[in-house]
Amino acid sequence: MEETNNQQLITKNQIVGVLGAGSMGSGIAQIAATQQHNVVLVDLSTEVLKKAKASLTKILNRLEEKERIPSAQEVLNRITFSEKVTDFNNCGIVIEAIIENLEVKQKVFSNLETIVSDTCILASNTSSLSIASIASACKKAERVIGIHFFNPAPLMPLVEIIPAVQTSEETKTVSRQLIDDWKKVTVLAKDTPGFIVNRVARPFYGEALRIYEEGIADFATIDWAMTELGGFRMGPFTLMDYIGNDVNYTVTETVFAAFYYDQRYKPSFTQKRHSEAGWYGRKSGRGYYNYAEGAEMPAANKDEALGKQILDRILMMLINEAIDALFLNIATKEDIDLAMTKGVNYPKGLLAWADEIGLESVLNQLETQFNEYGEDRYRPSPLLRRMVKEGGKFF
Ligand code: NAI
Repeated sequence: MEETNNQQLITKNQIVGVLGAGSMGSGIAQIAATQQHNVVLVDLSTEVLKKAKASLTKILNRLEEKERIPSAQEVLNRITFSEKVTDFNNCGIVIEAIIENLEVKQKVFSNLETIVSDTCILASNTSSLSIASIASACKKAERVIGIHFFNPAPLMPLVEIIPAVQTSEETKTVSRQLIDDWKKVTVLAKDTPGFIVNRVARPFYGEALRIYEEGIADFATIDWAMTELGGFRMGPFTLMDYIGNDVNYTVTETVFAAFYYDQRYKPSFTQKRHSEAGWYGRKSGRGYYNYAEGAEMPAANKDEALGKQILDRILMMLINEAIDALFLNIATKEDIDLAMTKGVNYPKGLLAWADEIGLESVLNQLETQFNEYGEDRYRPSPLLRRMVKEGGKFF
């Protein structure tokens, strides 16, 4: 298909529509309004809209006190809170952040098309659904794209831009330019399960759970190894408790199924049982740790050799996942490293980290694991093998 190069960028005087005023939608509305756009924020529920307005008022007032924005009221005045999707009729772009359900999203996108102008871009903030299948609900599928923010959206710098097979070059360029203008760090990802971050990060949880299940170490020790020795901001169990075991387990299960049950992404019974027990983490007062008032946090076993063994095992799996993402052209090497440092605060990009450790050492460690367990989960990426054979580094 021939593409035109005379695309119209989305300017500050164009209205940004945000559908869904939950945690992601209200965060996206805050960003757009802070960036001088008039915003229409729509949700089905009046209750949710009221809450979003109250919480945005509080956040923006705090930002004004800290002199991060000149006027909270000015930003708030730019946001129209509405229950009517028809209020999107003048938008340059609508970003959808409603419930993570394909059928619902498809219905919503098909309906949006009857309301918005012909040139309006329709974006989804989905974390796990295929953009191609959302776009397939639209007559002008070329205007549909994935724009994936991280939680909390105003604070996390990374945004993954995910064109579907149907997405036009123009939609891709205009969308990315807009989010760059909002001073976010954008990376381009292929429309595959988990995009970059939620794919590459799987072993951070999965391998930590596996180490626990084998009885090698407890939660506190694994968390200590990853933070103290690895430099990660949060240990895997602290992070899963923060995200919520229900949410994190569902993402893992979705990614596992979407990859045709590739054993590398196999979910864990430990997490499933915690989720079934209602031990979601912080939000329920108990997860891997007990968050009740006065409850004591368990102490880690600070054995350096054990800690190093834990860190190396999880890190090699993360690096292998990053290398495989590059092997399959999910994103460029620069974007893969940026995604992990800016989307989930990893201390270093995984490919740069692999260079630092030495690719031969990474391959040796994975092969040792693979030979010992005989499980497909530990298979080294063909790209890693090739690079070790040919010599060379990622950067
Ligand atoms: P949420 O549950 O906080 O908010 C969803 C909102 O959508 C609710 O307020 C609900 O009333 C509204 N809604 C549902 N159906 C609607 C419809 N047909 N029309 C209008 N409003 C409707 O959910 P959250 O966490 O904000 O997630 C939204 C989307 O963002 C999902 O696709 C999720 O996968 C994705 N996402 C979530 C992240 C997170 O950490 N929570 C991170 C990145 C993406």
